[in-house]
Amino acid sequence: MSTAESVHNGSVRGEPVREASVRERAPSRRAGAPWHADPYVRALRAGRGPLFLRRADGWMLPLDVERWCADPDAADRTVLRRCQSPTLDIGCGPGRLVAALALLGRPCLGIDVSQAAVARTLRAGGPALCRSVFEPLPGEGRWGTALLIDGNIGIGGDPRALLARVAQLIVPGGLLLVEAAAADVDERVRVRVDDGRGGVGTAFPWARVGIPALLHHARTAGWAPAEQWTAQDRGFMALRRTPPGPRSATER
Ligand SMILES: C[S@@+](CC[C@H](N)C(=O)[O-])C[C@H]1O[C@@H](n2cnc3c(N)ncnc32)[C@H](O)[C@@H]1O
Repeated sequence: MSTAESVHNGSVRGEPVREASVRERAPSRRAGAPWHADPYVRALRAGRGPLFLRRADGWMLPLDVERWCADPDAADRTVLRRCQSPTLDIGCGPGRLVAALALLGRPCLGIDVSQAAVARTLRAGGPALCRSVFEPLPGEGRWGTALLIDGNIGIGGDPRALLARVAQLIVPGGLLLVEAAAADVDERVRVRVDDGRGGVGTAFPWARVGIPALLHHARTAGWAPAEQWTAQDRGFMALRRTPPGPRSATER
């Protein structure tokens, strides 16, 4: 059975998606997980913010929880239209994108480290697993498209490491659709999830990357730019997986 068929049918390589998704990991492993912090879980359950990523210097990045919990908007649909099946949504949150793909009968899977996010994705009708992108995943090397939307290029705080990891997941010639930061930034920071009302999670590494830095990191990690577009003030890039080759001195 192909990855596409198995994911579409609600299981991945014989692993029932629903069962795997609700399995809790050992409490010790989960205890410090930042996206398990109460402010994020409470916001997902309520379907609304306020919610921020707060840097140590006090700078706050607003998180658009209401939009994440709504149906895909016009900008999201520009992403969905470009997906080549099967699609892996990395850090799927409450799952609006995989739910929309599933509704269209398109093979897909969302992964997220937050149990609350996975539960919401499943309720919305999207297949999802509670798993980190850095853990072993079903269908490695066979996904047609990976998504890093809503700032998810920041996952792990090291864009190059994340791009290299995603390259392992995608079929040769497959696509990575990434949303870049609106500003021309390339920053690695430590942040906490903060509800602006005293609810604060543990600190964790995050990154923000604008288009120029994304292009640079992508080339280094074996991705070739395929397309760049803007929709509703959000900037996106499509990257195509290139075969590994010798790296130039400037890329090292
Ligand atoms: C900025 S939010 C994006 C939300 C999402 N794209 C949506 O539509 O709601 C980042 C998401 O990535 C998840 N995440 C963080 N680290 C992760 C990891 N290592 N692997 C998978 N998901 C992760 C978080 O739990 C959170 O739901």
